[in-house]
Amino acid sequence: MPGILLGDEFPNFEADTTIGRIKFHDFLGSSWGMLFSHPKDFTPVCTTELACAANISDKFTKRGVKMIALSVDNVEDHRNWSKDVMAFNSQAATPLPFPIIADGKRELATQLGMLDPDEIDKDGIPLTARCVFVVGPDKRLKLSILYPATTGRNFDELLRVIDSLQLTAQKKVATPADWKPGDKVMVLPNVSDAEAAKLFPNGVTTKEVPSGKKYLRYTKI
Ligand code: BEZ
Repeated sequence: MPGILLGDEFPNFEADTTIGRIKFHDFLGSSWGMLFSHPKDFTPVCTTELACAANISDKFTKRGVKMIALSVDNVEDHRNWSKDVMAFNSQAATPLPFPIIADGKRELATQLGMLDPDEIDKDGIPLTARCVFVVGPDKRLKLSILYPATTGRNFDELLRVIDSLQLTAQKKVATPADWKPGDKVMVLPNVSDAEAAKLFPNGVTTKEVPSGKKYLRYTKI
């Protein structure tokens, strides 16, 4: 099975991109990274996605996340299409604020399990699905999401999960359903009450449930 699992070291691949040839780990440096693939340049949903990503790229930068896109088209197509993407954003004079990888031979797409067998090009070869990989400063995979070509992603949700990943990398907490920054977080199940009292000076509240088990522990960070 091709692909990469949470916690695996992300491959230090070399690739041609719109900013030249890169080695992925050098590109990331000590930053977080978000590699996101799309099926094809000059297609409608992909254009809205990259435009949306470009629009809020400063929010990724603020979080110390370097973005890089990928598809199976070549660098020249990526460069030309980038102009359409920025024009779609009514920012025709501004360059796309992140590079795009040209994975024409589908080497990365195959290695990382990004191909969508239901979406094929004119030669009958699978295109890349809408994959998102978030990589930590330790170069390990922190999150992966895979959408089919027919469903565009929500980039505000990607910012939200990055906020959660960065918080939970530092503190012994987990973020509940629909959490957003500023909301209460949950104390990890493997943290004892005594340790929680020391770790969370804002206090820990426990929600009572019929089982009587005290596992729903909240704190404010
Ligand atoms: C799109 O980006 O609109 C798209 C690309 C490939 C298949 C379906 C939709």
